[in-house]
Order: sequence, then C-alpha cells, then structure tokens
Amino acid sequence: MNFTLLQKVKVIEKKGALRQLGELMREGGFHHAFLVCDGGIAKMGLAEKIQTILEKEGFACTLYDKVQPDPPSTVVDEGSALCREAGCDCVIAVGGGSSIDTAKGINILRFNEGRILDYADPAKKMHPATGLIAIPTTSGTGSELSNGLIISDVEKGVKAPILAVEGMSEYTILDPELTVGMPVGLTLITGLDVFSHACESYTSILSTTPTDMLCEKIIEDVITYLPRAVADGSDITARERMLSAASLGGWMLACSSAHVGHSVAHVLGATFHMPHGKACAFSLPPTLEFIAPVVPEKVKKIGLLLGADFTGKETPVEIGQKAAEAYRNFRARFGLTSLGMDMPDENRLTVLARAVAHEPLAGLCPVSVTEDNALSLLKNFF
Ligand SMILES: NC(=O)c1ccc[n+]([C@@H]2O[C@H](COP(=O)([O-])OP(=O)(O)OC[C@H]3O[C@@H](n4cnc5c(N)ncnc54)[C@H](O)[C@@H]3O)[C@@H](O)[C@H]2O)c1
Ligand SMILES: [Fe+2]
Repeated sequence: MNFTLLQKVKVIEKKGALRQLGELMREGGFHHAFLVCDGGIAKMGLAEKIQTILEKEGFACTLYDKVQPDPPSTVVDEGSALCREAGCDCVIAVGGGSSIDTAKGINILRFNEGRILDYADPAKKMHPATGLIAIPTTSGTGSELSNGLIISDVEKGVKAPILAVEGMSEYTILDPELTVGMPVGLTLITGLDVFSHACESYTSILSTTPTDMLCEKIIEDVITYLPRAVADGSDITARERMLSAASLGGWMLACSSAHVGHSVAHVLGATFHMPHGKACAFSLPPTLEFIAPVVPEKVKKIGLLLGADFTGKETPVEIGQKAAEAYRNFRARFGLTSLGMDMPDENRLTVLARAVAHEPLAGLCPVSVTEDNALSLLKNFF
C-alpha cells in the first residue's frame, strides 16, 4: 500500500550529535563501517574525525573517499565491490547529497546483485537495504530522509533518479555544527534546493493535506533562516533550522515528490554540470508560471509566503507571474540574478525538451508535460 505519510528513518538531531555515532553503531549491532565521502570532506578532516570516533569505540572502518559530484554509477559500482571485499556490515555517508546518494547506491548493492543502474528501471525488484547511516554536511538535498538517489549514467550523459523505499537510510544524524563551515555559495544553492523541494512537493499530483502543511512550514523556514545562514554562517540557530528544513524537505520528496522543476534541473545538470541547487533555483520561476493555471491557490500561497501582493482579482496566469517574480526577487537578494550562460540553439533546446518531457519526475507535475510545453519552459529557464 502507498501510505500518505511514512517516515522510516530514525533521526538524531542535536548540536554535537556526531559524538553519538558509536552509540548508534551499537544500537544497530554494527561492527565494521564503510565510510563514504568525497575528497573535499576528507580534506576538511571530517572523515578522519569519524574514523577516530569509531576506532576509539572499538569499531572497524574502511574509508572510501572517491565520491564525485553528480555521482557517476561507476563510482557506486566500484565502491560496492570494495565494501563487499572489506566485509563491512554498515555504510556511513558523510557529506552532501552526492556522498549520501553514492552511499545509498553502495548500500543497495550490499543486498542486491548487479549494477546500480539496473535499479533505475522501476520494474526491477529490490531487497530492502538496511544499515545506512547518513550524516549530512549540507542543508539541501534531504537525501538522508528521501527515497531517492540521483545517479549519473556517464555513457548516456543523463542523471537517473532511482526511487526506492527499500534503499532509504536506516539512521540519520543531523548535527548542525557540521554545516557551519559551508561557504556562502554552497549554503545558498543548497538552501534554494530545499525551497524547490518544498514548492514542488507542495504542488505535485501526489501532494496531500499533511504534506501541504509540512511543505508550507518548510517554505516559511527557508525564507526566514536562509538569509540568516548566508549572512552569518556561524548563526547556529539558522543552521539548525535549515538542516531540519532540508531533511523534512527530503521526507516530502519521499511522500509527494518533486516534479518538472527537478526534471529540468536533472537534464541541465547532467548536460552542463551546473550545481543542482542553482539549476533548481532557475527552474522554479518558470515552473510556478507553468503550473499556476492548474493549481493557482497553491502558487498564490507560495507567492504570499514570499511577500507578493495580490489584489484578489488576478487570473491564474497573473498569479503565476507574481509568484515567480516574488521568488526571483528573493533569489536576487543573494545576488543570484542571472544564470551566467547563453540559451542553447533551437536544435539543442529541442533535444533537451524531449529529455525533460521523458524524465521520470515530470509525470508528477500537475500539468501534463509534453515535448512542446517543455520547450517553452526551457526557453523561460535561460
Ligand atoms: N537523493 C535525493 O533525494 C536528492 C535530492 C536532491 C538532489 N540530490 C543530488 O544531490 C547532489 C547535490 O548534493 P549537494 O548539493 O549536497 O552537494 P555535494 O554533495 O555535491 O557537495 C558539493 C561540494 O560541497 C562540499 N561540502 C559538503 N559539505 C560541506 C561543508 N559542510 N563545508 C564545506 N564544503 C562542503 C563537498 O565536498 C563538495 O565539494 C546532486 O547530485 C543532486 O542530484 C539528491
Ligand atoms: Fe533537489
């Protein structure tokens, strides 16, 4: 059965909660962790810190610090072989969405044969994969509570969303102190990813009353706390609220999902390698305009939360324009006014529009996405 709300991940949220990792390992009955991160996290000394915590408490740890942005499937497949070889009984992800998604893939392959991209086929059955501990260091993707992992098929040059309740984390540690060191740019784009998750989950065809209520709260918190986190990275209250907003956003992805804004972000992210949160921040205004004729009240609510003025006499199209403008103004407060790249030529746009229309999340948009309307959407993106 598809339940309206299902939250399977056991969460520890507290400043300094990382110190409880050993306790969590005992709770799970784990002995040997496969620690997954990227080179940036390793350089920051965080992988070493975790290794020390684990080793001090008598646990073995094998480090895999080969995560890459827009995680390629080959890195997941290679990590999975090493994880099996080392005989690890749990996987710890530390880092942003790229590290958590890579670790999710590796953990799925501990319980399932084949290569990770085999599971991009929704018809492919998957055994439940337990033993994933996700420790986010960005406040963005919410992958720690979501049912998704976004893996790049490098040969085809596409990002493949794999949606699997069976692959979700078993535990997550939300320690806002780990996000304090995020530079301003990363804080901003990951925070705008949260905003897009909440807006798209709020308006997807899978949205329900409880997800609506949660999404409104996430939107409100990002509007309040993202400017504070950007202005002062050491504002721990802002960091804490943003980390929880991000995780709840990930939960909303698991319940009601993102839709065409993320389809655009996945297609353009795979093609132009722009940061995911930036792609989302530019796909949201055209998405709001695109869906306003079908869900005007929800788009209006997003506009109101962003401070837009409505007279009550607007048509649905005008509501979309006002909400999109309010979001562009919000984004501009952080200096994000232009994408910084030219519009591709018509032929390339047509190919991209086809990819958007066939991207799996597009089917959850309240407006039916075709190659034609995806082309108009893309033209508004650039
Ligand atoms: N699974 C999901 O539900 C889901 C949802 C949205 C996006 N995604 C995916 O997540 C990926 C993006 O993840 P992301 O935006 O978190 O970025 P990321 O994981 O790609 O990390 C970006 C950079 O930030 C660095 N970094 C991470 N934490 C840091 C910190 N605290 N201080 C300093 N530097 C830090 C990393 O080392 C890396 O260089 C994309 O591939 C996207 O498709 C997944
Ligand atoms: Fe996202």
